[in-house]
Amino acid sequence: MSKKSAPIGIFDSGIGGLTVVKAVREALPHENIIYFGDTARVPYGIKSEETVRNYALQITNFLLERNVKMILIACNTVSASAKKEVQKAAGDIPVLDVITAGTRAAMKHKHIHIGVIGTLATVGSGAYETAIREYNGSITITSAACPLLVPLAEEGWIDNDIAKQTLQTYLQKFEGSDIDSLILGCTHYPLFKETIKKVLHDPKIEIVDSALSIAEMAKKELDKLDLLNDEAAGRFECYVSDRPQRFHELAERFLGHRIEDVEIVALP
Ligand code: DGL
Repeated sequence: MSKKSAPIGIFDSGIGGLTVVKAVREALPHENIIYFGDTARVPYGIKSEETVRNYALQITNFLLERNVKMILIACNTVSASAKKEVQKAAGDIPVLDVITAGTRAAMKHKHIHIGVIGTLATVGSGAYETAIREYNGSITITSAACPLLVPLAEEGWIDNDIAKQTLQTYLQKFEGSDIDSLILGCTHYPLFKETIKKVLHDPKIEIVDSALSIAEMAKKELDKLDLLNDEAAGRFECYVSDRPQRFHELAERFLGHRIEDVEIVALP
């Protein structure tokens, strides 16, 4: 296999990272993609940094064994806790992450007060604050952890009464705070985009999703390294560590189409 036709490895704690796969397939239709969702151990966002790092390195090794040419960390929690370790394990292979991508997307427009929602681990790490302040030290940032959203998304409860009430409770923190944008700091959250808009009730607030931004970054980087695949339409391989109930139905919501083959692998 030539280096150009080698796959891009994308991973997440569960199936939320399929929102990134969707954006990458749209931006780079010729690329082969290997996805790993750690469905046996999701959610990561309530676990310790050390545990998240161990899991992330196991998945990184799995992808490296499959000769990926690039790794996309499609999980904010892993991006916040283990980006350096993943990059170290990957050596020369470029590693892109959703926190850098989400921050870049938010910085495309002028903002004075940015809201960030994410898992307990992502919000607790302050990773978005650090990344945003590297661009602009004077932006006000308000963050809220929303730990119940990942299990709700994995359950497919994205717009029912429970989802609405949960979001109302979490987003109360932003009421009257004049945020002009809200970063969806978890790759499961784009599924709630419409419900979030309804709950925020303010069309001026820009909702920032890192999926499109990381896909753009991947395209630029592959082009720079002369690694864009110029062969036929790309293949998609999907691996998970457990098959959740209603996997196909949920994966379709995240990805936009049905996944025909999914392989279950136990990581060492
Ligand atoms: N999609 C992961 C993220 O972006 C979810 C984290 C979790 O498993 O709690 O943070």
